[in-house]
Amino acid sequence: MADMRVELAGLKLANPVLLASGILDSTPGILARMADSGAGALVTKSISLEPRPGYAGPTVAEVAPGTWLNAMGLPNPGLAEFLDEFDLQGGLVPVIPNLVADTPEDFGKLAAGVAGAGAKLAEINLSCPHPRAGWSGLLTAQDPAAAATATAAAAAHLPVIAKLSPDVADIGAIAVACAEAGAAAVSAINTMPALDIDTELERPVLGNAFGGLSGPALLPIGLRCVLKAVRALRDAGHAMPVIGIGGISSGDDAAKYILCGAQAVQVGTSLGGNPERLGEIAAELGGWMERKGYATLDAFRGNALEWLP
Ligand SMILES: Cc1cc2nc3c(=O)[nH]c(=O)nc-3n(C[C@H](O)[C@H](O)[C@H](O)COP(=O)(O)O)c2cc1C
Repeated sequence: MADMRVELAGLKLANPVLLASGILDSTPGILARMADSGAGALVTKSISLEPRPGYAGPTVAEVAPGTWLNAMGLPNPGLAEFLDEFDLQGGLVPVIPNLVADTPEDFGKLAAGVAGAGAKLAEINLSCPHPRAGWSGLLTAQDPAAAATATAAAAAHLPVIAKLSPDVADIGAIAVACAEAGAAAVSAINTMPALDIDTELERPVLGNAFGGLSGPALLPIGLRCVLKAVRALRDAGHAMPVIGIGGISSGDDAAKYILCGAQAVQVGTSLGGNPERLGEIAAELGGWMERKGYATLDAFRGNALEWLP
């Protein structure tokens, strides 16, 4: 049997297939089902210091088969209630809290809070793509200096994964900025900023108007981003791992990200309502490795890079 064990920022995982933030992660019970089914690790929904109610609906729409547009508005109960509800140190597989804040100071407070509750690694959401309609500034992940400041603030308390946006001119430069600010890893990508219009109502489909696209349409975009981030990090002499996210719905899709150099992957939209699917995708990746004769992930990680012009 293929050995899929992988190390991620000091955590030892049985396999590289992780749950992505924001999908099927609203209760500890669902997370436990995914752990039982063979997930490598579980990333929680984005947690802010104070509770956030989220946007008015509709918050999710299926814009093509399996492809979603969402603007949830990061609804969450706030850090204190989250820590009451979720166990960050027990559990069958590591639980990685995902943190969201508007300032570096708040990223620092959140990171200190989850570190104090036993988290060994956190993901920071620098890239939520749907600030309020009419907003015209940059996302944190679109500005290398802002991404670095937020990363450093959180990384002062525990190892962090900086989650990047596909909506940038040079994702490699952002990844390098995060590495130099002390990130333990970067994850790419968050959803792609997008819009859909209801022709009967003659208005945007989502309550927030703008949203983020996820699902199979995102796979080629995510692969390009990961490959560019991996190459930029290598060129800059950083060994920091990249986690591939976007459009994964099978073990074959997960293998594509690892061939682009990803250390691990996260899966969201394709799980639909089926938490057990995560473990199945990990098993499919193992099957792919056996068919190809690969005993370990290192044996094929980054193989696609040699084909770059
Ligand atoms: C309904 C929904 C909610 C999401 N919520 C979050 C979130 O709270 N924080 C975050 O960092 N990413 C969030 N994401 C983005 C996913 O974690 C992931 O980056 C993206 O969906 C691409 O992966 P996928 O194509 O496998 O879904 C959300 C995605 C969806 C579809």
